[in-house]
Amino acid sequence: MTKGNQLYEGKAKKVFETDDPELLIVSYKDDATAFNGLKKGTIVGKGVINNRMSNLLMQRLQQADIPTHFVQELSDRETLVKRVTIVPLEVIVRNIAAGSFSQRYGVAEGVVFETPTVEFSYKNDALGDPLIGEYHAIAMKLATKEEIEIIKDYAFRVNDQLKSFWASCGVTLVDFKLEFGRLSDGTIVLADEISPDTCRLWDSKTGEKLDKDRFRRDLGGVEDAYAEVMKRLTEHL
Ligand code: TMP
Ligand code: ASP
Repeated sequence: MTKGNQLYEGKAKKVFETDDPELLIVSYKDDATAFNGLKKGTIVGKGVINNRMSNLLMQRLQQADIPTHFVQELSDRETLVKRVTIVPLEVIVRNIAAGSFSQRYGVAEGVVFETPTVEFSYKNDALGDPLIGEYHAIAMKLATKEEIEIIKDYAFRVNDQLKSFWASCGVTLVDFKLEFGRLSDGTIVLADEISPDTCRLWDSKTGEKLDKDRFRRDLGGVEDAYAEVMKRLTEHL
């Protein structure tokens, strides 16, 4: 597989064309941002961990019949993926109140929900990724009603799979963000990444945060947290 031109550089990844129009290469960076790019930094080794972790988790999801963009890990930081058009919605699943949920509704961080929730944000940096309801997303033609139903079904199935897997690692899956894309034939698949950048992961015993909140909230020990959660994952594969 030959790496071609850079198509896009995002906050945490670069995307390259390949000699196959249906395949792309993603390259994970150590760059970290928060609050819509307002806070910038580096988490040393993050790209390697996120690449590996995302690939391992996506392979597990594929085994559970959840289609993903994953094709093949090429190196420490690079992965071959199916080319998709990203549905411009961030799909957020929550098991426990935290982050913007706690802020918006005044619910203490750590309150456990009886059933998981799903919500969407409109992927638009200029607007700061605002929360968006399903009807508004459909009205704006960000996705069809049918696509939204498929996405919600996949999102809850991803939650079931990941929650039990992380539990076996002694880690509580608090919440996470997914992105989906359309293949050239319109099929919806899970895309982007699943990593401590995009999930809240708490140590099941101590409640210690093992994710990007350590960076967002200046808690220190960011690199150690990423390494710890990666270690737990590889020990329990
Ligand atoms: P939130 O509580 O800030 O809305 O975040 C919910 C989840 O989504 C959390 O696991 C972190 C993740 N997330 C991203 O992956 N990207 C983002 O830009 C934001 C704001 C959150
Ligand atoms: N990466 C996101 C940004 O910079 C925010 C986050 O993950 O908190 O906008």
